[in-house]
Formats: sequence, C-alpha cells, structure tokens
Amino acid sequence: MQNKPNITENVLSNPISPFSRIQGPIFIGRTWREYKKMFNLEFEKLSKMKILDCASGASSFRAHSAENGIDVTAVDLMYTKSAEDLCIKCKEHLKILVESLKKIEDKFDWKFFSDADELQHSRNIACKEFVSDYINYKGKSYIPADIKDLPFHDGSYDLVLCSHLLFIYDHRLDYEFHLKAVKEMLRVTKGELRIYPLVKNHGVKSKFVERIMEDVSDVKMEIVRVDYEFRKDSNEMLRIVKK
Ligand SMILES: C[S@@+](CC[C@H](N)C(=O)[O-])C[C@H]1O[C@@H](n2cnc3c(N)ncnc32)[C@H](O)[C@@H]1O
Repeated sequence: MQNKPNITENVLSNPISPFSRIQGPIFIGRTWREYKKMFNLEFEKLSKMKILDCASGASSFRAHSAENGIDVTAVDLMYTKSAEDLCIKCKEHLKILVESLKKIEDKFDWKFFSDADELQHSRNIACKEFVSDYINYKGKSYIPADIKDLPFHDGSYDLVLCSHLLFIYDHRLDYEFHLKAVKEMLRVTKGELRIYPLVKNHGVKSKFVERIMEDVSDVKMEIVRVDYEFRKDSNEMLRIVKK
C-alpha cells in the first residue's frame, strides 16, 4: 500500500521537480495575474461572488481581489504561522525555485515570464502583497485549515479555486487525498470548483484527473482550455459545476 501522504514531509520530492531541494511543504505564491489566466477569471464579473482560494500559499490573489472589492477567503495549512515566518519561507523557497529553474529552463514556456529573473521579481512582489494583506487579515480572511476538512458550512462560496496542490504532486499525495479534497471543496461551494494544473512537472496529465471525473457524481465537469502554460502542456483546468 502507498504510504499515507504527510504534508510535513517533502511533498515535492520529484527528481525532475525544480523544488526537489525543499523539505516540507513548498510555500510560494503566484501572482494575481497568473490566477486570472490559470482560471479564466474576469475580475469585473467576480464582484458579487464569495470566492475561496484553497490552498493559497503566498499568492497575491486575495490581496489584489480585496483591493478591488472582491470577497476572497484564503486557506492554507501554513496560516498558523506569523507573517514574518511566512515571508522568510517564501523568499527562501522562491530563491531555490529560481536557482533550479535556471538549470532546466528549456522545460518551461517563457511567454508569461520572459525568464527566471522576471519570475522571481514578480513572485517577490506577490509575496510582499500577500504579507501586507496577511498582517491585517490573518485569522479573518486567511484561515489555517486542511483542504480535506474545511471549516465552512455547506455551500458557503460561489467559486472555489485550487492552484498547484492537486494533480501536480500525485507522486506524493495519493488518490484518496485528491478525492477527499475535491469532495470537500465541492461541499463548500454552491457554484463551482476550478482546479489548475492537470499536469505534473514534466507535462504529462495526472492519471488522477480521469479517476476524479469518473468518481465524482452529481456535478457537471469539463476540461477547459486556459491562456497560461508555464509548464509544458499545462493549458487546461478542470471546471466542476454543482448541479
Ligand atoms: C505550491 S503552493 C501553491 C500556492 C498557490 N495556490 C499558488 O498557486 O501560488 C501549495 C500550497 O498548499 C499548501 N498545502 C499543502 N497541503 C495542504 C493541505 N493538506 N491543506 C491545505 N493547504 C495545504 C502549502 O502550504 C502551500 O502553501
């Protein structure tokens, strides 16, 4: 039997992963611009929605949305920690990521970021925006929780987003984890759930995508093309709509 995944272990111990030097959960965050593209979001249409970002890491999505009057709650296991600890962790992990990326640049698509330095610059800005927002809203809009056991009532959100936690680490997080996480995120949305990416680091679609599509019922599911492809062949998200 596969070992039960322990998120405090190195969830990224994939030899071809740019994160393979990091022990423990990787803590970085994508920019809100990446979120916009990964999930086909039109910010003008989000103003009346309640959105959950799960797991949000050091992303600037909540901070930017809040500035624009959009109601976003961010969840992450790491949100028990202080802003200072998370800032240090994010900068450390980003540095390791960029050093590693520079060695395997050809495996990535450099249309969104022109190179690894630009990626580092943009994600450092995202981290700064995250930290200032986190200082003000820790415990209010930044909630420490496990994706498999969310502290929200059924149907609390219109839209749930899940970026770079499911499918991409299917070598460490087993199918049971994936199924529980998807069902839990579906429990707390009354509208829909979007998951990105569907591929692993080397651009191969996770075998769990098809299984999730078979095993989750009473929903409409579709794989939707998106205009974001940093990892090769990663220009698809899974959209699951409640019936
Ligand atoms: C690679 S980061 C992605 C962050 C953000 N969504 C993004 O795309 O930039 C993955 C995040 O998942 C969090 N995480 C890992 N396991 C988790 C779990 N079981 N429940 C909640 N968060 C978890 C980690 O702490 C980390 O911040």
